[in-house]
Amino acid sequence: AGTILITGAASGIGLATRRRFEARGWKVIGADLRDAEICADLGTVAGRTQMVERATALAVDGLDAVIACAGLSIPSTATLAVNYFGAVATLEGLRPLLLRSPRPRAVLVASSVSIYPGNEAVMEACLAGDEQRALALAEDGDPSIYVTSKRAVARWMRRAAISAEWGGSGILLNGVAPGVVETPMALSTMQDPAMREVIAQTNPQVPDGLIPADEIAELIEFLATFKGRFLMGQIVFDDGGTDAIKRTDLF
Ligand code: NAI
Repeated sequence: AGTILITGAASGIGLATRRRFEARGWKVIGADLRDAEICADLGTVAGRTQMVERATALAVDGLDAVIACAGLSIPSTATLAVNYFGAVATLEGLRPLLLRSPRPRAVLVASSVSIYPGNEAVMEACLAGDEQRALALAEDGDPSIYVTSKRAVARWMRRAAISAEWGGSGILLNGVAPGVVETPMALSTMQDPAMREVIAQTNPQVPDGLIPADEIAELIEFLATFKGRFLMGQIVFDDGGTDAIKRTDLF
C-alpha cells in the first residue's frame, strides 16, 4: 500500500478512484472544494499553494501517486483556471513529494473531447504558463473553453511526461481521456438535447451514452499502480470508441 493524493476526490470520478484506493488499503489524501482532507480552490494561485503546503504536511513519507482529476465543464474562464492551471500546479507542485517514492506515478484526467480543435491562442498562453493572458484571451461564455482547457492540458502532459523532471526522473506521467461518464458533471450536460444527440452519435457502443465512473477509476488505478518503467506520455481513451471513430488512422 502507498499514499495517493487525488484532486476532485469529493465527487464523480475522483470519488470512485478514492474508493478503489481505500479498498486497497492506501492512505488517500483528497483535495477538493469541500468534503476532503484538503479543502482548497484549485482555480486560484493561493488555493494551489495552500493545497501543496497541506499535502507536504500530510504526506510525511512523500506520495506514491497523484491524480489530477478536479475539473469544471461550465463555459467560463474558471474552467480554464481549474482544468489547465489547477491541474498543472497540482502535478508540478506535488512532483517533489513523488520523487520520494520508489515507484512514483501520476495520472491526468483529460477528456475524449481533447481530440477536437481548441482555441490555439489560448492554448499557447496556457503552455507558456501565462495564466493572466490565457484567461484574458478566453472569452467568458465561450462553449469551446472546456475543449481548449482539456486539449491544452493533454498537450502539457505529453511534453512534461518525457522531460528530465518526469520520465527522466522515473516518474511515470500518463493521462486518461474518458468519454461521457455518469457523474454530476455529465448529468447536467445530458440535459441539453443537442448534446445528447452529439453524444449518441460519437458513443455508439455505450448504452445511454454514459460510462460508469468506476470504470474510469479502474483505468486510473491501473496507470497509478503500473509496475513497468516505460509507460509515459500516453492518453488512454475510455470513450466507447469515439477516438477510434474520429481518428482511425491517427495514433
Ligand atoms: P464532478 O463534478 O462529479 O467532480 C469534479 C470535482 O472537482 C468536484 O468534486 C468539484 O468540487 C471539484 N472541483 C471543481 N472545481 C474545483 C476547484 N476550483 N478546486 C478544487 N476542486 C474543484 O465531475 P467528474 O465527472 O467526476 O469530473 C472529474 C474529471 O473528469 C474532470 O476533470 C472532468 O473534466 C473529467 N471528465 C469528465 C467527464 C464526464 O463525462 N463526467 C468526461 C471526461 C472528462
